[in-house]
Amino acid sequence: MDSRQLCMSFFIFFFLVLAKEGRAQGADRIFDIRKFGAIGDGKSDSSKAIQDAFASACNAAGGRSRIVVPLGTFVVKSAVFNGPCKGWIEFSVGGIIKALAGPVNDDGWVVFRHIDGLAITGNGKFDGLGQSAWNFNNCKKNPNCRDLPTSIQLEFIENSVVSGISSLNSKYFHIKILQSNSITIDGVGITAPENSPNADGIHISNSQNIRILNSIISTGDDCVSMGAGSTNILVYNVTCGPGHGISIGSLGKYDNEADVNGITVDKCTLSGTSNGLRIKTWPSDVQMTAYNITFNDVVMDNTYNPIIIDQQYCSSKGCDQSRSSSVQIKDVWFKNIRGTSKSQSAVNIQCSRRFPCYDINFSNINLLYGGPDGKTKKELEEKFCVGVMALIEKLKSQSLPNNFNLEN
Ligand SMILES: *[C@@H]1O[C@H](CO)[C@@H](O)[C@H](O)[C@H]1NC(C)=O
Ligand SMILES: *[C@@H]1O[C@H](CO)[C@@H](O)[C@H](O)[C@H]1NC(C)=O
Ligand SMILES: *[C@@H]1O[C@H](CO)[C@@H](O)[C@H](O)[C@H]1NC(C)=O
Repeated sequence: MDSRQLCMSFFIFFFLVLAKEGRAQGADRIFDIRKFGAIGDGKSDSSKAIQDAFASACNAAGGRSRIVVPLGTFVVKSAVFNGPCKGWIEFSVGGIIKALAGPVNDDGWVVFRHIDGLAITGNGKFDGLGQSAWNFNNCKKNPNCRDLPTSIQLEFIENSVVSGISSLNSKYFHIKILQSNSITIDGVGITAPENSPNADGIHISNSQNIRILNSIISTGDDCVSMGAGSTNILVYNVTCGPGHGISIGSLGKYDNEADVNGITVDKCTLSGTSNGLRIKTWPSDVQMTAYNITFNDVVMDNTYNPIIIDQQYCSSKGCDQSRSSSVQIKDVWFKNIRGTSKSQSAVNIQCSRRFPCYDINFSNINLLYGGPDGKTKKELEEKFCVGVMALIEKLKSQSLPNNFNLEN
């Protein structure tokens, strides 16, 4: 750590402590969006006002500037907050930032870009009004579909935190982190119904040193998804459900995807989700590696596929299932995974024929079948799991299709 980094870490720590205790006003320069013309009446478009407030805060020299979104409902058609800024920025949300109804073809709705030292705080809400747009999502049928906007997009962001806020009914992903380094997301709430299409809770790609902590995510797609180039990611004390679970991937869909390395999922609960812990890759020629991955201390509560590696993943039409994935999965631990499985195959491993998985290790897996008849309870013991590892090694050496699950 050089002195600048040291200084930055100290500052962020200090900043958070102050913000938490609500004593920061004295030291901050305040930019109340109402002073820039925003009206919290739930009708007027405050897009320009909120961006003007940001621009002033961003240009204020040195120290820290706090943009305040007070109580009220502020309609924002779209907002792009472009750095770099001259000092540290806090974006403090007390009220509701509400999207326009209907489909919009922007990439992101509220976008933060090129900022080093950003804190998004408060207990306010970002309401994406997704229910007015989900019917326009045709991505299941059309592989070239135009994405609806992500609610909160962080691009090229460094040394930053997002805490306390919540995201409601995003049109597409709730939070997306791209090309970023060193971000902590702590104590956020994410809510959308089980059938909201592509409403991933938090999606990460091409980013390093990201921590997602103490958050509750209920949504229609993956609660957390870690795409290509995710490096050194911690997901800790996250409760997910409904949703599609905590996923690595999907990987191998696009050319030149960067490796995934150093993922830890620890102390999480998956409740009523379709998948629990999942690694998913497309059948394609895109070569990359996903490795050094640990899932530990995870509770499943009536999860359909508690542990699943799916290397024939395909979420839209137009995949050639006769092909095999070129993503190498290796060095993965599943430890201390317990609870109930809604399906009888609690552990389902379908690796690539061309690049069979290796070093997939299981220890202390205790999943009970909680099926509808209540009688056929099945317990998967650790010895079966060691068997899975041995089986993978064997399949690898024979280069057979390694498509099986523990119940067979
Ligand atoms: C886990 O997160 C919840 C909020 O979702 C919080 O109340 C709880 O204290 C956290 N537990 C730990 C062990 O950090
Ligand atoms: C594995 O991941 C951990 C945690 O992210 C990281 O500290 C370590 O350097 C990684 N190991 C390798 C061999 O990349
Ligand atoms: C998994 O087990 C195998 C065989 O015991 C071992 O060679 C490998 O290093 C283990 N993998 C990890 C990630 O520890």
